[in-house]
Amino acid sequence: MPIFRNVVSFQKHFVAKETDIYIASIPKTGSTWLKSLLYSIVNRSNQAISESPLLTHHPQQLVYSLETDIYSEAFDYPRPHHLDELVSPRLLSTHVPYTSLPESIKTSDCRILYICRNPFDTLVSSYHFHIAYIKNFINKEDLVIPSFEDTFEDFCEGIILFGPFFEHVLGYWKMSLEQPDKVLFLKYEDLKEDPAYHLKRVADFIGMSFSPQEESEGVIKQIVDLCSIKTMKELDVNKNGVINKFFEKKSYFRKGEIGDWTNHFTPSMVERMTKLMEEKLEGTGLSF
Ligand code: A3P
Repeated sequence: MPIFRNVVSFQKHFVAKETDIYIASIPKTGSTWLKSLLYSIVNRSNQAISESPLLTHHPQQLVYSLETDIYSEAFDYPRPHHLDELVSPRLLSTHVPYTSLPESIKTSDCRILYICRNPFDTLVSSYHFHIAYIKNFINKEDLVIPSFEDTFEDFCEGIILFGPFFEHVLGYWKMSLEQPDKVLFLKYEDLKEDPAYHLKRVADFIGMSFSPQEESEGVIKQIVDLCSIKTMKELDVNKNGVINKFFEKKSYFRKGEIGDWTNHFTPSMVERMTKLMEEKLEGTGLSF
């Protein structure tokens, strides 16, 4: 997929609105999960959870990615003819680093939810996603399955889609400190630990707080349960078919656990990644 061309079109042509809400992330850090949570928060007053479009649509089809959907020729589900057709607030996503975002996103009063994940699990998740893509869509004669060792090496050198990883995370981290009303910084691990608490944080941040009545009626729990990996994985719509010609829908829901890296990293890889992480994050106030 010619991602670079899509990103350039996005940078050149996109105009943000102050009501927009963006999900930004490095791939494989939990953005699909955050899409389903954000979509549910925003639409909870006009759609009963039992009739949520999430039961019939993959989350990627409800919160469009700017570079892989809107500005992509491979986009293959009903596409809005114009971005203005999207209802307000427009819910959109991007993997582009903060410094490379279109100026109008940086200067408008829109909001950005950034999700990150520890680099160990992000790398493992990204490796499995890549392997699934290669096995399914690359011509069998061209099939070269990269080793985990090589993928690890690339990651440490900063070679990862939309990376380098630490620069990406720190770009949004810095903005979340400088402009806390504009950028909300979330960690996958925190969401796993207490999804209800972070769901409320997101709702407060976008100005759509849960009322005491909604809390007592269990709306938060209903959203958390609907968007859980267990529920999402079992939905037919997420089990079969592909998105944008290349990506199997089910490949967005793999294990959804913290710590799968322990099944992949050798002791020397752990040592090298830990050192790299300490170097990159030193003095930033961010830790994993
Ligand atoms: P694993 O490969 O470790 O299982 P992204 O959505 O940014 O592509 O990230 C994908 C990762 O998030 C995958 O991690 C996937 O399983 C996990 N994931 C997807 N939906 C989830 C959910 N509802 N809850 C927790 N994790 C989820």
